[in-house]
Amino acid sequence: MSSKKVYVMTGGNVGIGLECAKVLLQTEKNVHLILGCRDKKRADAGVAVLQKLMAQKGSENSNTVEYWPLELASFASTRSFAAKVLETYPQGIHTLILNAGLVMNSRTTTVDGFETCVQVNHLSQFLLAALLTPALAKATLTWPGENGCITLLASSLHIPGTGRGRGPELTIENIDGSKDYEGMLIYRNTKLLQMLCFFGQASHLLAKYQRKITINATSPGFVPTTGLKRDSDFATRLMMDTVVSRLSVASTVDQAGKRVYNCISKFRGPECHGLYYDKDLVATPGAEARDAELQAFWWKWSMDAVGLTEDSF
Ligand SMILES: NC(=O)c1ccc[n+]([C@@H]2O[C@H](COP(=O)([O-])OP(=O)(O)OC[C@H]3O[C@@H](n4cnc5c(N)ncnc54)[C@H](OP(=O)(O)O)[C@@H]3O)[C@@H](O)[C@H]2O)c1
Repeated sequence: MSSKKVYVMTGGNVGIGLECAKVLLQTEKNVHLILGCRDKKRADAGVAVLQKLMAQKGSENSNTVEYWPLELASFASTRSFAAKVLETYPQGIHTLILNAGLVMNSRTTTVDGFETCVQVNHLSQFLLAALLTPALAKATLTWPGENGCITLLASSLHIPGTGRGRGPELTIENIDGSKDYEGMLIYRNTKLLQMLCFFGQASHLLAKYQRKITINATSPGFVPTTGLKRDSDFATRLMMDTVVSRLSVASTVDQAGKRVYNCISKFRGPECHGLYYDKDLVATPGAEARDAELQAFWWKWSMDAVGLTEDSF
């Protein structure tokens, strides 16, 4: 049985997740990191970057990293990833980082019939967190003095009026994007959905697992240089990389990665349960995200969509 602290991250082969992984593997000892990625070639490239970094540290670095296949556009893939984690680590896992996300400029649906962004950014990671909850609850026994931790990559774009453009405009009529589709609008809707259900998860975890698991959310800053814009046209991508990235509102990818790392290291204690951070500072989520009626509605909708009941996790 491995005594290494097991960290699981969705995505992480590129972008903010990769930067967080670099800090984690360079700062801590006795860590095993699993990246859940959809594309083998891209995942191998990310793992190679991390292994090279660790090799530079020499034999003092006992950390290990690997990738396991995870396609968040499929509940079957998400469930089989979770089942493999539970089977491989009966002693539990230390931390779950819900990092993966995407923006799509045209509407597609998944094999499960949901709009792709809604399923990848929210539903599948909501499901994954629920399925891995029993493993996270064991962290306190396996690594005494520590609790399990779930960190959610949120965005300040869940708040209307933040950034440019419309939204969020979250309605049940347009949850599949069939009435009105605009990439950033749908992305913002998914980030609001995440925050609405974050509060439900926080109270569920507190009631059922007392203080064994902390869940926190972080908006790591606006990082124009990541692959999140990969579905945009060439001119937009160029402008983001060369012009927007120099604006004072922009953060670098390594700054954002460090902020996520802070959530899984400094802000993981029970006193940080249910807190939302904006660039490392405790912040107040948007009014819609804090609306109890909306929270209850979208919690139930999400539970039904992924096939969970309150008793099942
Ligand atoms: N960039 C920002 O300004 C910003 C601001 C606030 C919050 N965030 C959040 O930060 C997180 C990371 O974004 P990023 O900016 O680092 O973007 P990124 O560089 O595009 O990274 C996104 C990650 O998600 C993975 N992913 C996408 N679709 C997936 C799927 N269907 N199944 C499994 N993995 C999938 C990607 O894998 P591939 O390499 O295979 O595509 C990649 O590893 C996201 O949740 C995003 O919403 C970003």
